[in-house]
Amino acid sequence: MQSKVQERAIESGDGLYFYDFNSEIQDQKKEILTGLKQNNKKISAKYFYDEKGSKLFEDITNLPEYYPTRTEISLINKYRQEILEKAGEHSILIEYGSGASTKIRLLLDALKPKAYVPMDISKDFLFDCAIELRKQFPWLEIHATCLDYRQPATLPERLPDGFKKVGFFPGSSLGNFAPEEALNFLKGVRTTVGDNGAFLIGVDLVKDNQVLHDAYNDEQGVTANFNLNILDHLNKVGAGNFNTQNFSHHAFFNEEKSRIEMHLISDIDQVVSLFNERLIFKKNEHIITEYSYKFIPSKFSEFAMRAGFESKQIWSDENKHFALFWLEAI
Ligand SMILES: C[S@@+](CC[C@H](N)C(=O)[O-])C[C@H]1O[C@@H](n2cnc3c(N)ncnc32)[C@H](O)[C@@H]1O
Repeated sequence: MQSKVQERAIESGDGLYFYDFNSEIQDQKKEILTGLKQNNKKISAKYFYDEKGSKLFEDITNLPEYYPTRTEISLINKYRQEILEKAGEHSILIEYGSGASTKIRLLLDALKPKAYVPMDISKDFLFDCAIELRKQFPWLEIHATCLDYRQPATLPERLPDGFKKVGFFPGSSLGNFAPEEALNFLKGVRTTVGDNGAFLIGVDLVKDNQVLHDAYNDEQGVTANFNLNILDHLNKVGAGNFNTQNFSHHAFFNEEKSRIEMHLISDIDQVVSLFNERLIFKKNEHIITEYSYKFIPSKFSEFAMRAGFESKQIWSDENKHFALFWLEAI
């Protein structure tokens, strides 16, 4: 399904293009207030990513406790040749939630894509990163696309025609979706890459509880700052007055649901103003900010099959902490 939103090219240069599909489709006020007025309060994880949040996330990826990023990077480095053999050269590479495009850099020289489409919701960060990437890879055609990948994806119309499309979704971001949403997302990717397409996706695996716990409760408190920054972001979006000093970070592994849960807990009874509305938080009341589901490889392959993808290859580390799946359209 195509979004009704028309492509809006912000600025175009020779081989470097920017699009904003996001601003017109989202009704942030309604989404945020609905989440914060219900009994089990929640804020969508996408609000982590203002410019500060994107930078904090980069800091998290360098923490000793945070194994996913370094494990996934070592898998990409180790299996680069095999990935190249599967993808072939000259594809259209589409990255969902590209952030700093760190991981794709490891593959660009080998894959020589016809075009690279980094897609992210954090517009300024996305556009800055695209400019930097172009400096490092002057031959690369880049279509930086600001969108919310929870909505049906819209690809820029001016992408070169007739090339194989390969999606890339590292960082186990699929784990942030509830299972039904994850299935819909995968179906959407299947539609976007088409019958000849493929999808390289990194997923975090079920493992020892302590390893998981430590990854979301680092000693330096960077993850706590990242979690709390979501309130500062809401303050900017909705002229709010959240005081982050009055909330605490709380993250744990929910074994029954196979997911890490990140919460913010109100330390006191308080009233916060947001979008000119009064929001009441009781002492010890929780706001859910993120779920991060962890997967079992065989179950993930079954899941991908339901979305129209066959799992052709799984690359994993020796501790079985993380896995890269090569999925092909069926
Ligand atoms: C966990 S980071 C991953 C960055 C990079 N792909 C990596 O693996 O290092 C998630 C990225 O997805 C983006 N993001 C989060 N929710 C999004 C959404 N709903 N739509 C588009 N991008 C989103 C964030 O801005 C952030 O850059």
